[in-house]
Amino acid sequence: MSHDSDLNNDLGYFDKMAHWSFDEFGIHSECLTDWDLYELLKARVTPDSKILDLGTAGGEKIFEFFPDCAEILGTDFSSAMIGTARKNLEKSGKKNVSFKVMDNLHMDVPDDYFDIVVARHTCTVASQIYRCLKPGGHLLLRGVDKYDCWSLKMEFGGGQGWNDPVPVSISDYEQVLAAGFTEVELVPIHMKDYFKSREDFKGFLEVVPILDDVSIGGQELNEELLDRYIAKNTVGGRIVLIRNYYGISARKPLE
Ligand SMILES: C[S@@+](CC[C@H](N)C(=O)[O-])C[C@H]1O[C@@H](n2cnc3c(N)ncnc32)[C@H](O)[C@@H]1O
Repeated sequence: MSHDSDLNNDLGYFDKMAHWSFDEFGIHSECLTDWDLYELLKARVTPDSKILDLGTAGGEKIFEFFPDCAEILGTDFSSAMIGTARKNLEKSGKKNVSFKVMDNLHMDVPDDYFDIVVARHTCTVASQIYRCLKPGGHLLLRGVDKYDCWSLKMEFGGGQGWNDPVPVSISDYEQVLAAGFTEVELVPIHMKDYFKSREDFKGFLEVVPILDDVSIGGQELNEELLDRYIAKNTVGGRIVLIRNYYGISARKPLE
């Protein structure tokens, strides 16, 4: 489940991203939906909790947003990302956090071990997550949906998820149910991202896999189509991009 696109599971792409940060584009984000993964995480965690963070990248979200608890394991299939995460760990001085290289599609963690699994913007296999959770354990998943940045994709005639026959939110939801989870909720998350300049916006599109044939090492961005999008989507001097994510919360039955 949760294949935002093949590119989102492209090891070469994420290896190149390992030393890079979104902060440089000065994006201002406005969330229009009340679904916050980290608030839900806080509500579920106890001091004894063991948490698994799938597709952790450099572990940035763990250090910034995860509550303190007994154990946090961050995994990623990119060894470059895990290298960055281990450097971040050293700086943090945390003793309850560790990282390892692991492919989410072939998970290598003990059965019935974790209290909470977090999967944010990565690919996952619901049945494998189910196996590693304790009875009563929680899954918190957030993904990028088919209709993310849809007016931009319309302008360019394609992009991430363009050819998905079913939006990834729906296929994920169905696979979470099929794996045996209960208390399954799917929530569409709407956001607006604002960019201060054409340069920031272009730089962003050259890195993130929204127009997936353009980002990192792909084709040149079509400047004419970019200008057309900017002309139609500038409000108060800022370029607006409408984001469409989804959140899923679910629970492994107690027995
Ligand atoms: C967009 S980043 C999200 C990082 C982090 N979870 C966050 O929310 O900021 C996606 C991460 O998933 C990882 N990833 C993609 N496919 C994977 C797979 N099959 N197994 C493990 N990690 C994967 C990438 O290497 C990358 O670090």
